[in-house]
Parts: sequence; structure tokens; C-alpha cells
Amino acid sequence: MPDNKIAAITGAYKGLGAALSRGFAERGYSLVLGGREERALEMFEYEMKKATNASAVIMDVRKKADCETLVNTAVEKFGRLDVLVNNAGVWKMAGIEEITEQEITDMFETNLFGPIYCSQAAVTAMKRQGSGHILNIGSTSAVSYNAGHIAYGASKAALVSFTGCMREELKGTGIRVSVFSPGGMKTDLFRAKPDRVKDDFMDTSFVAGKIMEHIETPTEEWHVILRRPGGYSGK
Ligand SMILES: NC(=O)c1ccc[n+]([C@@H]2O[C@H](COP(=O)([O-])OP(=O)(O)OC[C@H]3O[C@@H](n4cnc5c(N)ncnc54)[C@H](OP(=O)(O)O)[C@@H]3O)[C@@H](O)[C@H]2O)c1
Repeated sequence: MPDNKIAAITGAYKGLGAALSRGFAERGYSLVLGGREERALEMFEYEMKKATNASAVIMDVRKKADCETLVNTAVEKFGRLDVLVNNAGVWKMAGIEEITEQEITDMFETNLFGPIYCSQAAVTAMKRQGSGHILNIGSTSAVSYNAGHIAYGASKAALVSFTGCMREELKGTGIRVSVFSPGGMKTDLFRAKPDRVKDDFMDTSFVAGKIMEHIETPTEEWHVILRRPGGYSGK
């Protein structure tokens, strides 16, 4: 692995995004860190700069122009973009009769539209290079069909479909496209309903390690599912 690779990651400063950023830094990647809270992003950029080159971009993945800025920052500061990780996501548990229009909009704009906008910008940069990897962070919710996951599950299932379609379209360009769908992890994602986090939910460092293996070992497997030990059994 050359030590001059560049990764851009959305939702970089906490949860899985922070674990992935640390994984990239350990492997010598330079980083473009996307996040929407200025103070949290600054503090995380400070931490990452102790380990590697890092540049923070205040951005909201729901805004196409912000997604373009993330990718442009990689190209302008570091000359290229090797890996884009569409990691930012939001979760709300609500059934079909309770979920609000705003919650549906938030989940689809963040979990699906954001990755589409960022990928559009990345494809342009990666086609120029003739290489790159666009990695979307899905969820087992895409295939588990949990009650209460009406919009979250649907947004992640749509993300998987988007990934498969983009992968077909980009065959022959040198751009790799994949989606990694973890099961439950111990993160802030569930801050609206903390009792949702179970004892066997996975540590982000463990999941990030599996994702780094996926990045470093290109295979034909484009949708990787990593279930937590006591998770959905596939019935
Ligand atoms: N935790 C799980 O059990 C689990 C399981 C499967 C998949 N996932 C997926 O893993 C990914 C990371 O989630 P996590 O578990 O690490 O949760 P997390 O700790 O809540 O992190 C999510 C990150 O996304 C950012 N974000 C949310 N909306 C954004 C927006 N509009 N623009 C830019 N950034 C935004 C958050 O920033 P703020 O702090 O500003 O909100 C935060 O940095 C998500 O895609 C999630 O769906 C999580």
C-alpha cells in the first residue's frame, strides 16, 4: 500500500467515522474529514494531524455543493482522491403511523442523497485518475426488515441498490464501488433511544478493522454484510 493515498470521509469525527479515520491514518493515508459541527471537527482534525496529513471540511451531506467541496478539497490539497467513504448517517426509530414527514426526509437526504451527491463529485475526480474506491456504509437494516425501521431500513436498502447500479455503470473505469453493511455498533447513532444498544453491539474499532480489510483486499464482493453476534439470523 503506497503511503501517499488520500481518503475522504463524511461524518468523520465520531462513531464509526472516527474509527475509520484512525484506521486510515495508521495506514499512512492523508485525510479529508467531513463533518457539520465546527468545534468537534476542529478537535478531531487536531488529533488526526498528530498522525497524518489532515484537512477538515465543514459540510452537510444533504447539500450537494458541500459534497463537491469535500471532494474538491482532496484534489486541491492532496492532488487526488483514492477512497471516498460515505459514512454519515442518521437513525430514528418510528413505525409507519408515527414517523413524520421531516424524519423521513432527514433519513433519505442524509443516508441516500448525501452518498449520491458525494459520489457524483468523486466519480468526476476518480475518472480523471482512472482509479479510486467509493465505499458506502449501509446497514443490516437494509435486509433485516425490522419493525420501527420504516425509513431507516428503506434508505439503507436504497443505498445498496444505488451502489449496485453505480458499480455496473462504472465497470471498466478503474473505479471500485462497494457497500459495507454492519449490524449494531455502540455509537451515538441511537442517542434518541439509548436502550436500543444491546450488550453484543460491536465496537467501532472492530468494524473499522473489517472495513479496512475490505478496502485493502479488492474482491468481486461488492456488498459485505457484517452481523453482530446475536443479530438477525437471516430468516
Ligand atoms: N451504530 C450502528 O449500530 C450502525 C449499524 C449499521 C450501520 N450504521 C451506519 O454507520 C454510519 C455511522 O454511524 P455511527 O453509528 O457511527 O453513528 P454516529 O456516531 O451518530 O455518527 C454519525 C456521523 O454522521 C454525521 N452526520 C449525520 N448527519 C449528517 C449530515 N447531514 N452531514 C454531515 N454529517 C452528518 C454525524 O454528525 P453529527 O454529530 O453532527 O450528527 C456523525 O458524525 C451511519 O451511516 C450509520 O447508518 C450504524
